[in-house]
Order: sequence, then structure tokens, then C-alpha cells
Amino acid sequence: MNICLNDKIFEMLSAIVTKDSIKAWIIGGYVRDHLLHRDHPEKDIDIVVVGNGIDFARKAAKAMGPGIKVSIFRNFGTAMFRYGDYDLEFVGARKESYNRESRKPVVTTGTLEDDQRRRDFTINALAVSLNRETFGELLDPFNGISDLNAKIIRTPLDPGITFSDDPLRMMRAIRFAVQLNFTIEETTFKSIASNAERIRIVSKERIIEELNKIIMCDNPSRGFILLEKSGLLKIIFPELDSLKGVEKKEGKAHKDNFIHSVRVLDNISSNTSNMWLRWAALLHDIAKPVTKKYDSESGWSFHGHEFLGGKMIPDIFRKLKLPLNEKMKYVKKLVDLHLRPIALSQEVVTDSAVRRLLFEAGDDIDDLMLLCEADITSRNEATRKKHLENFGLVRNKLREIEEKDAVRNFKPPVDGSEIIRTFMIKPGREVGIIKNAIRDAILDGIIPNEHEAARKLMIDKGQELGLTPQDESPEPNIQ
Ligand code: CTP
Repeated sequence: MNICLNDKIFEMLSAIVTKDSIKAWIIGGYVRDHLLHRDHPEKDIDIVVVGNGIDFARKAAKAMGPGIKVSIFRNFGTAMFRYGDYDLEFVGARKESYNRESRKPVVTTGTLEDDQRRRDFTINALAVSLNRETFGELLDPFNGISDLNAKIIRTPLDPGITFSDDPLRMMRAIRFAVQLNFTIEETTFKSIASNAERIRIVSKERIIEELNKIIMCDNPSRGFILLEKSGLLKIIFPELDSLKGVEKKEGKAHKDNFIHSVRVLDNISSNTSNMWLRWAALLHDIAKPVTKKYDSESGWSFHGHEFLGGKMIPDIFRKLKLPLNEKMKYVKKLVDLHLRPIALSQEVVTDSAVRRLLFEAGDDIDDLMLLCEADITSRNEATRKKHLENFGLVRNKLREIEEKDAVRNFKPPVDGSEIIRTFMIKPGREVGIIKNAIRDAILDGIIPNEHEAARKLMIDKGQELGLTPQDESPEPNIQ
């Protein structure tokens, strides 16, 4: 079988290979995606050569243009450079697999087939020749094409060997299955289940990269269900694993919160490609197991799971090696607030409650509403419709109040420095009390969101605290 390599970059590489009588092939993801007609966002091309990959990368860079900078990773025996839109990675064919966690340099060189054998999956072991006389020829000693057509993830070797070479491959199997909508062949999957413990030797950074890729799939629930079934989930993410299961008391059962959470993740994934909003969906009920209570009158409850869930986020992010920055705060905020719009849809809604939610959610209010709508997982069409209609009312109310009061990005019309200047006091407890009183009065609709009214309240509140204004006519706070 021949593959049509019509990009000029392959011609260039072929010319270099032929000139120096080097044996080289394109291998891995590029070949797989090309055969699947899959548009890959990153144009990574892996090239394997018999001999020294680093030397060949240097040669190729020199021949392909002036000023190309080659990055060398001696520990992995690889080198790469960028050419146009492409990232080219070069590696020498090896007989034994290297351990990606190891710092030991790769030494054992081998043939192309040796190299293909030590790759992760048959569909990733397909190689296409760059050599002039065989240009475009597909080398498929492990039946990758047949697995590609049958949509199967299978290891070229006994899966126990492939997975012990690099246990991250167990997660990659699941990620590819979900990303490509493939099935993991039975022996391969059984081997993941029996080798799951070995994932512990893989760095958290590599694990989270795969987890994020699963989250970004169209149907991420399938990935999490496979992670759970294989036993990987309880090792890499025990908090999520402990959401699973249904308990029944006196004939009353609660829903399986793991299944619910991954369905919410699927729901939101059809409306957003914001990875952090997807994370918030996955984690919104994370504190349900620790807040679960049963009462024979009222049944199962999970009181306060939203606040406790919010509190758990920094620790979960730290453990998973997710960033401890604004993204984490955003997820925490959405978890914290995820029941608030529901509350607004159930009771007679006061303007003040809507204003408070707008103030707390700020610019993330639209994402919060998406999360709440995704949280409806009832299979009963009438119930779904009713909840969605209620959220529609909440959205209208939010729009109305936002137009009227503009509290979404609330900035107090009287700030801390004006309070300090007016009473000639030092920053401290009183400043906080006055600021909170002004904020609460505005959010509760007691005073308008304007400087004059806020200043009057500041004076009154200050006097209650025994403070006397020293400066009666300061510059108004320009907003
Ligand atoms: N590979 C492997 N074992 C790993 C990682 C990678 O055998 N743990 C091999 C596979 O042949 C793979 C190639 O190296 O196709 C390139 O790896 P990578 O760039 O991580 O993956 P791709 O297959 O290109 O897919 P994607 O870009 O979607 O991750």
C-alpha cells in the first residue's frame, strides 16, 4: 500500500535522506491521522531513522534553510525543529523501549521493525517510507491498518510488556479510544485493569495531560467510565472515584453521583470548549460523598456540598498538578455557586438575591448558567423542560437587573481610600465595616449604586462607629 505524501516538506526530507543514503520513515500520529482523514490541530511529524536521530535532525535543518534552531533532548535520543507550520521530531530506531520517566540516555539502536514493535499501539506503529525508491510505501508489520479500519486499539506486543515499558500508555489507550471513537481490544483492556497500579510510577504532569485530553473529547464521559472500569480512576483521582455507587435505605436510593457528574460533563461539552468550564462540570458535586446524610423523614441529603466542594478545589488542583491560578479560582467559584440559580428559580425571586448572584459571579455568570443547565440530567422530558423554562426565567431576571443596576462588575462608588481620607483614619477594621455596609446596602437595593448615596451612608456608618468626618467635600470617586 502506498500513501500519497503530497506536501513539499516530504519531498525535501526525501531528497536529504536519498542524498546521504539514510533510511527514514514518517511514523506515529501523523500517519494515523492522515489515514483517518483527521484534521490534527498540531502538525507534528515524527520521523524515525536507522542510526542517529539527532545527527539526522541537524543535517535536515541545515539543508532545509538557514537559521533553523534544533532542540536536542539527549536523554530521549530525540531532536526537533519547527519548519513552517510543522514540528518535526527525529528519533533513531531503537530495539528496546526507553522509559520516558528515566534520565538514562537511549543507547540500543535497532531496525524499523524493532522500533515499531516497541511503540504503544498498532495504529501508532504505522510507518511511511521517505526513501526515494520506496517513497510513500506503508510498512505495517502489526496490522495497524486492519485495526484502524475495525476501529480497535491494540498493542503490537503482549500488552503487559507495552504497558510496563510506559504505564502512561494505559491512559493513552483510553484517550485514543474516546478521541477516535475506537474500542479497546479485550486483552489490551484486561491488561490495563491488571497493570493499573503501575500508573503510580508515572509523573502527575504526564497524567494530567492525558486527563485534559479526555476532558476535551466530544464524549468525555466514556473516558471517565473506562478509567473507572479499568481501576485507574481510583488511583489517579480518588475523589472522583468515590462519587460512584448508589446507597439505598428504607427503600430510598440516591442517584449515582459519578454517572451524574460525567453526564453533566458531556452536556456542557456540547456547549463549550472551555476546558475549565468542563472541569467545573466534572467537579461540581465532588463533595457529595462527604456531605451525604440520611434521614427517614426527608431521605438523602448533601447539605453544603457546594461550599465544601469549592473548598476542596485548591487541594484537588494541587494534587492533580493543575494550575493554582485564576483558572483554579474560576472553577472554585463555579462549584461554590452552582446551586444559586436553582434557588432563584424555585422561590419568589427578590431583586436583591439576583443582584447578589450577579455580584458574586461577575463576568462568569453566563458560564454559571451553562453549568446549571448542564446539571439537569433527568431523563424525564417534562421535568427537563420545566427546569429549562425556570432557568429561562432566571436568565431574564438576570438581564433585567443587570440593565438596571449594572452590578456584574461591581466597584463600590466609595472606596477604601475615600473612607480613610474622610475620617483621617488608618486602614483597619472600620474601613472594612463601612465598605461592607455600602456594598450590602447597594446589593439589597436600599441605596442606589451612586456616589452621593454611598457617601451619605459612609458618613452615617462612620458616625455609628464613633468616627468624625474631617474632610467634608472630597473629589467624588470617578467610576
Ligand atoms: N509513543 C509511544 N508511547 C508513548 C508515547 C508515544 O509509543 N507513551 C509513540 C507512538 O508511536 C506515537 C508517537 O510516539 O504515535 C508520537 O507520540 P505523541 O506525539 O505523544 O502522540 P501522537 O500519536 O502523535 O498523538 P497525539 O498528538 O494526539 O498525542
